[in-house]
Amino acid sequence: MSQLATENGTFREERSAEIVNARHEGCADPRLAQIISALVFHLHAFVKEVHLTQPEWQAGIDFLTTAGQMCSGERQEFILLSDVLGLSMLVDAINHRRPDVATENTVLGPFHVDGAPQRQMGETICLDGKGESCRFEGRILDLAGAPIEGARIDVWSDNAEGFYDVQQPDVQPKWNNRGVFVTDSTGAYSFLGIKPVSYPIPDDGPVGRLLAALGRHPYRPAHMHYLITAPGYEPLVTHTFVGDDQYLGSDAVFGVKASLIAPFERMPSGPVIWHSSFDFVLNPLT
Ligand code: BEZ
Ligand code: FE
Repeated sequence: MSQLATENGTFREERSAEIVNARHEGCADPRLAQIISALVFHLHAFVKEVHLTQPEWQAGIDFLTTAGQMCSGERQEFILLSDVLGLSMLVDAINHRRPDVATENTVLGPFHVDGAPQRQMGETICLDGKGESCRFEGRILDLAGAPIEGARIDVWSDNAEGFYDVQQPDVQPKWNNRGVFVTDSTGAYSFLGIKPVSYPIPDDGPVGRLLAALGRHPYRPAHMHYLITAPGYEPLVTHTFVGDDQYLGSDAVFGVKASLIAPFERMPSGPVIWHSSFDFVLNPLT
């Protein structure tokens, strides 16, 4: 045991993080010890940098307590906190470094639901009849541009009023604006949905109040969600974004990447109002 670890009861401001971390020397899990020690190091540096007062420390504890109390099977306030602080996107970025040609990841978000119905290629996912219709199409490709057969494309979006079906179970039809499509040998996909609209992330809890206190809005720019899987390839969790959205530069959860801004073209005539074409390129598993 190091000398620091034996300095019982001798906490000192100047060496605070070292004294705490010396207690982790006996940890049987080196990765856990590394993570917690780095966390302690940075937390102590943060407290010293801002000279945190005791009322501020208490406000932080109260904030985390309220966030925990807000969590349920349907609501995860801590992930929302991670999202608005850019942490979710940072963890996503460092874990999904890909060749430039591969489609970039972005946040999954809290509104994905397993088990959406598989639909015929070309079918609609919009069941409530609201919104401006939009045909989404493109191909699922490998890094060399060859089509991927058997890719499973799970898509979901908000409705014309900015709500996902799971936020309004008594208002929207189940599986509204959701569906799963599987590619054939051409790798092509096509489905009918609506041109998504921007919407606020759930902001009736402590995270929403924090955003307001910081002078930040809670909006996400309009997007279509995709979770694309195929045997032998890394799962792709991504969106396509509507290019003229007013919130593209200030997404509440930092999910926008320039490469994911898709064309949305107004059709000159016919029953479908918009058309959006986007190819997704999957990265092979190593
Ligand atoms: C979403 O796009 O569905 C989302 C992502 C992060 C937080 C809230 C919503
Ligand atoms: Fe979303």
